[in-house]
Amino acid sequence: MTAEMQISLEVNGERVDAQVLPRLNLADFLREHLALTGTHVGCEHGVCGACTVRVNGEIVRSCLMLAVQTHGASIETIEGLSDSGEISDLQAAFRDRNALQCGFCTPGMLMTAQDLLKRCATPDREHIREYLSGNYCRCTGYQAIIDAVEMTARQRLAAKP
Ligand code: FES
Ligand code: FES
Repeated sequence: MTAEMQISLEVNGERVDAQVLPRLNLADFLREHLALTGTHVGCEHGVCGACTVRVNGEIVRSCLMLAVQTHGASIETIEGLSDSGEISDLQAAFRDRNALQCGFCTPGMLMTAQDLLKRCATPDREHIREYLSGNYCRCTGYQAIIDAVEMTARQRLAAKP
């Protein structure tokens, strides 16, 4: 029998202490131990992007990371970004542009889009398409998602003093 390991980390600004099996991945830890089910699991192989979260400020695929690797780290999930209001404009743009249908890809898409907009205030459509190319959507055909991200970039730029 494999022994559990103790980890301590920060999740959405709150300290979390947990005992986990060494093989438990971060996506399952967030969903099953912390009930943060906004992190979706599609492929479990690092391909679809549905499980995207931030670890120490960088987006990662949480299905490819072990929970034990996050000991001492700061994790942010879609719930954290949503509750803080950080992505409220992006969420509104997704609604306005009908950039989601089933919603399965949406949390990962929002995490990745926000990462792009933090790095580049004026991405063109090709840049947006390329940056989101690792996040798969089965429903929308991507155009509306690109519209929503482009619209948010413009709004943020216009709102700058
Ligand atoms: S579930 Fe992690 S990339 Fe698909
Ligand atoms: S909205 Fe259904 S997978 Fe993207």
